[in-house]
Amino acid sequence: MDKRAIELSTIKKIDLTQLEPISLSAFYCANTKNQSDHPLINDLESEISKTDFFFSSSKSRRTYPGSSKKILLPVKGMHINCRLDDAILNRSSIKTFRKSRVSIEDLSRLLYFSAGTNRQYEAKIAGRKITWSAHTFPSGGCIHSLSTYIFPYSIDKLQHAIYHYDPSQHALEKLKAISKEEVAKTVVSGNNLPNALAIIYITSRIDKTKDKYSERGFRYVLQETGHLMQNLCLVAVSLGLTILPLGGFYEKHIEKILNIDGNQEQVLYVGVLGKPDRKQKRISITELRKNGTIGDEDYSV
Ligand SMILES: Cc1cc2nc3c(=O)[nH]c(=O)nc-3n(C[C@H](O)[C@H](O)[C@H](O)COP(=O)(O)O)c2cc1C
Repeated sequence: MDKRAIELSTIKKIDLTQLEPISLSAFYCANTKNQSDHPLINDLESEISKTDFFFSSSKSRRTYPGSSKKILLPVKGMHINCRLDDAILNRSSIKTFRKSRVSIEDLSRLLYFSAGTNRQYEAKIAGRKITWSAHTFPSGGCIHSLSTYIFPYSIDKLQHAIYHYDPSQHALEKLKAISKEEVAKTVVSGNNLPNALAIIYITSRIDKTKDKYSERGFRYVLQETGHLMQNLCLVAVSLGLTILPLGGFYEKHIEKILNIDGNQEQVLYVGVLGKPDRKQKRISITELRKNGTIGDEDYSV
């Protein structure tokens, strides 16, 4: 049993009611605050440890070399004709969808603009050449421990299966065929899935971030997950689709279908992709000013 497995079994034995009146979140926050006299970042001072760190972090990207099938996503016409302000103002958590299908081109756009690679770096550290990539969303220490998995209900050319998105090749790796019924068990009832186009699971190989930032790293992976989900929401809207972000999901079911251990790799967020069944009514900033909601002081000079 490795050190982390021992820690986990100890944690499992804690009776949370015994912790009262200290809440677990207050305990976590108090113990993971940065302090100038006690930085939580591991020592990366020596050139050698820097090299080793970058080598290991460039390996933190999840790939499935053994996946039965790799599907390179189309890259032609990789642009979206939608203004950023329109995408932001039209985003909302629509919970009912219209029956529809998504083209593989639109899925390609959704994944590329939300989670794809947009920069590559090369450096020589301690005589070793290293390369690493960055993505369309930020990541603490550029470690990029997040992974995106997708179950398509109605996407052209894709079957009912779990696919992993590999940003380094802008490809989907098919992991295993699975039924809609199994997937339905992963979200809390009430999060209706009729007519959903896909479910997206975001996980973190959290140990990779903790290697650098210790326990504070958990804050970072949650923040990164929010960045990625917001990209998904805005890109979906700009494609005429919508993403319903879900906190109501069952970790254990998801761990089972993704075949992850729930310890070193954890599911953090789930999104349901759909075609909105209606247009949400928007209110303009001018109307808000007119009806007094946002005040009418004039600060112009
Ligand atoms: C972290 C988080 C978890 C959420 N979980 C759920 C959920 O499990 N089920 C659901 O129907 N909506 C969920 N939502 C959507 C919220 O209900 C929605 O964002 C909120 O009502 C505000 O509406 P809006 O997104 O349309 O602005 C979640 C949103 C966030 C940010």
